[in-house]
Amino acid sequence: MSFDISAATPAPYSRVPPFSAIAADDLPLYEFLYCSTLADGQSPSVIAQILARARPHNAAHEITGLLVFDGQHFCQHLEGPHAPLEALMARIADDPRHTSVCIAHEGPLAQRRYQRFDMGYAEAEGAAQIGALFTLRDEAALAHFLGLRPGFDVHGG
Ligand SMILES: Cc1cc2nc3c(=O)[nH]c(=O)nc-3n(C[C@H](O)[C@H](O)[C@H](O)COP(=O)(O)O)c2cc1C
Repeated sequence: MSFDISAATPAPYSRVPPFSAIAADDLPLYEFLYCSTLADGQSPSVIAQILARARPHNAAHEITGLLVFDGQHFCQHLEGPHAPLEALMARIADDPRHTSVCIAHEGPLAQRRYQRFDMGYAEAEGAAQIGALFTLRDEAALAHFLGLRPGFDVHGG
């Protein structure tokens, strides 16, 4: 199966601030699943910098999840208290190291899917695994990603 990522036209990420007005303790768990494309001029080695920053920050804010990279595209599943997670998602969407940030799924979460307060990392093989997320939405996107998850060789998380 192949996916023409260049033909997909994801809606740009946009939110209405301020989310910081909401107290984290009052909010249940929330999750985001997004995909994006490595920005022009960025080396794939940027992943090391991202993880070095992400892991302590996520641990401090009780954000868990998994970041997958295929050398050209990112896909990240994030879960945690709603307000800090919204704030993080907004920062990630603004990060110039990637483009075409596209939310495939978001919503309330009854129970964490990832246990450690860290950010797991895995490398996807080929563009098709992540590529499908540029076209799938909501439950279909989530089901696709969760179906891939057991096959990933996850470091940390
Ligand atoms: C694909 C990708 C995934 C990222 N994931 C995280 C993450 O899980 N946690 C995090 O703190 N920063 C993550 N970042 C980095 C943030 O975009 C941002 O640079 C970082 O939170 C520092 O923000 P600050 O300089 O405003 O404090 C990610 C960046 C990219 C490009």
